[in-house]
Amino acid sequence: MVNKFAHRIADIEISGIRKAFEALSGDFINLGLGEPDFDTPEHIKTAAVQALNSGFTGYTFNKGIEELRDAISNKFLSDNNFSVSPEEIIVTSGASEALHIAILSIVEKGDEVLMPNPCFVSFSALTKLAEGKPVGVPLNEDFTMSIEALKEKITTKTKGLIVNSPANPTGTVESEASIKALVDLASDHHITIISDEVYEYIIYDGVKHISPASFSDEVITINAVSKTYAMTGFRLGYLAAPDEYTEQMLKIHQYIQACAPSISQKAALAAITGPQECVSEMRNEFKRRRDFAVDALRDMDMQFPVPKGAFYIFPRVDDENEFVEQLRLKKIIVTPGSAFGSRGKDHVRISYATSFEDLSRAFELMKDM
Ligand SMILES: Cc1ncc(COP(=O)(O)O)c(C=O)c1O
Repeated sequence: MVNKFAHRIADIEISGIRKAFEALSGDFINLGLGEPDFDTPEHIKTAAVQALNSGFTGYTFNKGIEELRDAISNKFLSDNNFSVSPEEIIVTSGASEALHIAILSIVEKGDEVLMPNPCFVSFSALTKLAEGKPVGVPLNEDFTMSIEALKEKITTKTKGLIVNSPANPTGTVESEASIKALVDLASDHHITIISDEVYEYIIYDGVKHISPASFSDEVITINAVSKTYAMTGFRLGYLAAPDEYTEQMLKIHQYIQACAPSISQKAALAAITGPQECVSEMRNEFKRRRDFAVDALRDMDMQFPVPKGAFYIFPRVDDENEFVEQLRLKKIIVTPGSAFGSRGKDHVRISYATSFEDLSRAFELMKDM
């Protein structure tokens, strides 16, 4: 029989996170999804409305509007300690598109891409779409990256290494020493790092976010306004890398996307250059919830490293399917750990990007189990 669909999508599954989301109906408490429950800050919405009202509704430069790329370039210098010209920045439709074009630009059929196991679901799916091979590197017990495990997985086909700190689904923030060690290892083996930093500003307990690009040029740095400013639906992300990389990625971006949404670009400009109190307010509220969730789960004798970033906790459970099902009967949605890779088995991802009231209610119900 003629195969109607391309083989490259045959072994890609619908994301486990989406499945959890789609199972949701009215009175469920959703601890499954990864997006801030806050409203987009007022000054950002105003900028979007102004863009609309002034007719800023057409295509923009493929790379994105200049003012926004200038602002992003300044942000990388001030917050991430590396210098990149506005020309070396591409504004994308969310971090998702940035990940897609980064992977497509470096991965050929059969190339291997190292990534944490467990990790964000898109890393392996996008690698497969590029006809590459995702290679999960089991995380340490405390969910940090293991240099030893990484070394074992490097082969002559290794092309890329995906770093994601703060991490989804574990909330781990890698130390400066760890990032430096990852960068050194990658450069010794001529491996390009793709650094997904979308949770950069959602970070607690005084730990510091470190960008691999502050140590090396062989890095594609990816970020977005999605999580930081509660703007997931604006679909606005960006990437930075040396010219030789952005030139290649731009070719893909211009054909699959043309440009990021113009209205969202103006909103992102207001987000990045405007007052940043909204970011610390959201972070403080996430921290309050994290502390509450950590205490509640510890009261239930659950085992997990305390997350230092993002808005997830990844506790171990006896049987993830049973646990997820029991919670579903109580009308609570969490994501099974295996959705993020084999090392996630018998864990669940609990997202605390939901209201304090819902969280309290969910933990009360969980205690009853
Ligand atoms: C690690 C990570 N990267 C990227 C994304 C996608 O970001 P965006 O909504 O900007 O496409 C997510 C969303 O959950 C994520 O967790």
